[in-house]
Amino acid sequence: MKAIRQYEFGAADVLRHEDVPDPVPGPDQARIRVAVAGMHLVDTTIRRGSAEGPPLPALPVTPGREVAGVVDAAADPSWVGRRVVAHLGQANGGYAELAVAPVTSLHALPDHLSYEAAVALVGTGRTALAVLELAALGPSDVVLVPGAAGGLGSLLLQAARRAGAVTVGLAGPAKLPHVDADVAVDYSVPSWPDEVRAALAGRAPTVLLDGVGGALGRTAFELVGTGGRVVLFGWAAGAPFELSVWDLYRQGLTVSCAIGPRIFARPGGLRGWEEEALALGASGAWRPLVGPAYPLSDAAGAHRAMEERRTVGKAVLAP
Ligand SMILES: NC(=O)c1ccc[n+]([C@@H]2O[C@H](COP(=O)([O-])OP(=O)(O)OC[C@H]3O[C@@H](n4cnc5c(N)ncnc54)[C@H](OP(=O)(O)O)[C@@H]3O)[C@@H](O)[C@H]2O)c1
Repeated sequence: MKAIRQYEFGAADVLRHEDVPDPVPGPDQARIRVAVAGMHLVDTTIRRGSAEGPPLPALPVTPGREVAGVVDAAADPSWVGRRVVAHLGQANGGYAELAVAPVTSLHALPDHLSYEAAVALVGTGRTALAVLELAALGPSDVVLVPGAAGGLGSLLLQAARRAGAVTVGLAGPAKLPHVDADVAVDYSVPSWPDEVRAALAGRAPTVLLDGVGGALGRTAFELVGTGGRVVLFGWAAGAPFELSVWDLYRQGLTVSCAIGPRIFARPGGLRGWEEEALALGASGAWRPLVGPAYPLSDAAGAHRAMEERRTVGKAVLAP
């Protein structure tokens, strides 16, 4: 089969499209003929060998932690031929024509849920639920979401709207048409905070859901009104924004972090969130924003697009 192989940490061109032997599933595993593999911004951090993200894999590795497709081999024959999605976690192996996954990680998909939506929900959707649990959104909230046309930002805006909140999405100019919010603002323009204030006509955001960090995250943080809540879940800009306890005293805010140890310490594990996210997709309550698939052979180009902020919604690969 064809797969992406990485032998060293570095720039996107360390991702090589190669012929490798077909993987053979173990007794508790299934083999999936991959229709769609999910990509993450954090995949680029891991690829570079950054110590600031999740634990780095042993090399060589086939990256990729989310796959959807049809089971083509499994010790339990009842799985063969079924449409599934799986989160592969630290095992990786998703950027490939065939991937093996523990049978316990499989989710059978209803026919009407696309592979693209399934890979967007199984990981990004479960992170969205972790954020939403902390945010506890309600109809009196005004919710500010940077990175609003990203995979996670777009789901968070949908959830905020369903909670009855006023939604404010921030994105770069090319992505603004993809921001589904009551107020959509181009945050590449220096005066963007004034645009947010004007659009909200005197109301301050009550909640910030921030996965961008850096200077943009900090400016968004300063817009949150007294008593507001801030939920942090990433630093797409390259670093979290600077924050001191004095900031919390000054603005009377509550700040929490949805990822890292907390998410893994969840009683009962992450599978419950995966099921919930997939059910929200299957019912139509969540409609993941997914960009056009990149060919598996151009995984390096897809990584460059993510790093250069050219992707919209969940970024995916198609073998
Ligand atoms: N998806 C998950 O399951 C998951 C899990 C844990 C943590 N996170 C974190 O959550 C954040 C959002 O994740 P995502 O999956 O929604 O990613 P995504 O689909 O790639 O979206 C990230 C968004 O961040 C914005 N951005 C701002 N500065 C950027 C930069 N320097 N480089 C790249 N993007 C930049 C981009 O929008 P503009 O170009 O419009 O600014 C982009 O749409 C990231 O920090 C990620 O690490 C995600």
